Amino acid sequence: MIMEETNYFKPKIVAFCCNWCSYAGADLAGNNRLEYPANVKIIRIPCSCRLNPLFILRAFQRGADGVILCGCHPGDCHYSTGNYFARRRMTLLFSMLDFLGIEKSRTRVEWCSAAEGVRFAGIMNDFVEKITKLGRCKKLEDVRCSR
Ligand code: FES
Repeated sequence: MIMEETNYFKPKIVAFCCNWCSYAGADLAGNNRLEYPANVKIIRIPCSCRLNPLFILRAFQRGADGVILCGCHPGDCHYSTGNYFARRRMTLLFSMLDFLGIEKSRTRVEWCSAAEGVRFAGIMNDFVEKITKLGRCKKLEDVRCSR
């Protein structure tokens, strides 16, 4: 039994959530006691466009196995067009990930409103499941930040 527990891979997931929609969606999921894995570490950002794509590469460098960006639905951004900028930046990042040798499926962009707690939990459960299948991400790992 102890062997099973030590061999079980629990990926480190970083979720950047915009303050106005997806963070509130995560809050709603918590208030409704919807379950999603505890290894999803949420970082609240003012808007999805605040996320510099280098933050994602840095997260991989610091040992993250998957990074997800969640923002307001297109057209619903609190700052009008922030998520459109985020979407463009992330498209560029995705094209670079192949070049860096990181599977694209280790990053994802999702839109989730404050009223979509169920959707938020579903997204996180699905993402964690897929990253668990992919295994550890060692490509950019900085040995100084190792576990
Ligand atoms: Fe949510 Fe801009 S405030 S994406």
